[in-house]
Amino acid sequence: MRITTANTSPLRANADVLVVTVTKPPTLEGVAAEVDAALGGTVADLIKAGEIRGARGQVTVIHAGAGVRARSVAVVGLGATPEGDDIRHAAAAAARAATTARAKTIAFAVDTVPADRDLASRCLVEGAVLGDYRFDRFRSGPAKERPSRLDTVTLLNGKRRASERAAVVATAVNRARDLQNAPSNHLGPEQLAERARSIAVEYKTVTTTVNDRRFMERRKMGAFLAVAAAGGPAPALITLRHKPAKPARGVVLGLVGKGLTYDTGGYSLKPARSMSGMKFDMSGAAAVLEATAAIAELSLPIEVVCVVGAVENLVSATGMRPDDIVTAANGKTIEITNTDAEGRLVLADCLYHARRQGATHVVDLATLTGAMVVALGDWHAGVFANDEAFVERIDAAGELGGEHVWRMPLHDTYKRFMRSDVADMRNASTAGKGGACFAARFLQEFAGDGPWAHLDIAGVADIDTDRGDGLAKGGSGWGVRLLVELAQSLC
Ligand code: BES
Ligand code: MN
Ligand code: ZN
Repeated sequence: MRITTANTSPLRANADVLVVTVTKPPTLEGVAAEVDAALGGTVADLIKAGEIRGARGQVTVIHAGAGVRARSVAVVGLGATPEGDDIRHAAAAAARAATTARAKTIAFAVDTVPADRDLASRCLVEGAVLGDYRFDRFRSGPAKERPSRLDTVTLLNGKRRASERAAVVATAVNRARDLQNAPSNHLGPEQLAERARSIAVEYKTVTTTVNDRRFMERRKMGAFLAVAAAGGPAPALITLRHKPAKPARGVVLGLVGKGLTYDTGGYSLKPARSMSGMKFDMSGAAAVLEATAAIAELSLPIEVVCVVGAVENLVSATGMRPDDIVTAANGKTIEITNTDAEGRLVLADCLYHARRQGATHVVDLATLTGAMVVALGDWHAGVFANDEAFVERIDAAGELGGEHVWRMPLHDTYKRFMRSDVADMRNASTAGKGGACFAARFLQEFAGDGPWAHLDIAGVADIDTDRGDGLAKGGSGWGVRLLVELAQSLC
């Protein structure tokens, strides 16, 4: 998809769909009034009739006559007091409506958005690129019977730099969604490793290492290996490093991703209804890989070390059992009380590895607990952190990127639930409360010194009920935008 900016008048924009935004209640001024006049007052009539109300994401498509060069005009609502999320939402809804009508080119009248032009440009591009996304890799019918994909998005009177940057980031989000949506029989640890290798080929600041089971044995990564013990596709410890020529001094940003390409639960087997959807258990990995790619593409002057633990949690005669005791790479012993609490085992060794690779600041992203989904739903990710300044930075990065976090407690009281009769700790609590907090406190045992934040993205990584924001169901690519903003803020 091509993203361009132009100073053409909206009336002369050469696009299938010209998008004009209105707030709630809608008023027509400036460019919007000009477009309405060229349409013979149709927009004003529809407002008067109550058909166009300016509600967030409401799209009304009007076929354009002689006065407007575009084939049709889409009037899209921003809601009452539009912020970044409302602009993204509107642009995504417009892109979805346009592609459903098989449009290929879309032009946004940026002047109709009541926001700073930089913010408007960036949010319109993000919304359009995200709204255009469809996962149709496995549809065999003729493409012309499906919605189209946009070739060109034009911002009329938009800011070029802001829109180009937004395009890089949003395209990375869509690549993460492709990885997430791919089912396990098409995307396993090896395919995640392949993606890391191709990122390293693409950007000259990036190098990658893919370590196998034998390496993990030498490094005594007994926690990670316990998950890999069931066999199935070979596990991979993936390290991707972005090392720019002049990096910010004193900071190496560690991005750690849970890469369970499938989670059956193991011997502590998931019931059928909770198992489906577990292809998304690699969403943290998808986010950190594609965020690293975007950081490299934007040439951000910060060193990044990205670590992914890629493996599947399966059932077999060689699999770990409840009651087993394993030793993590940092020497701590763990009693396995539930084989379905596998993410924290993999992350334990990955966090330790990231520190050994020189990470000064670490963020991990993981679809870690069902409890997180219950607690916060699908709009905020939970953030647990050991450093106030770092968590504030992460919160600000999320607000900028439109990926919101909510602070959760990282507290020693949860150590009570970790106590084991036979080992240093147990991997799952039987207390039946505070599951997400317990998991975070468990991870802290392995996160080393220095700022660390754990983002439990179980609720936000995939969307299973349409929120009406123009984003499809399925993988959301959650985390890419936040991580790019975070990296930028540390430069
Ligand atoms: N991958 C799951 C967490 C999950 C659940 C993600 C639902 C998305 C939706 C994780 O590995 C898991 O199974 N966690 C268990 C932990 C429990 C056994 C202590 C859970 O949350 O039930
Ligand atoms: Mn699990
Ligand atoms: Zn899992």
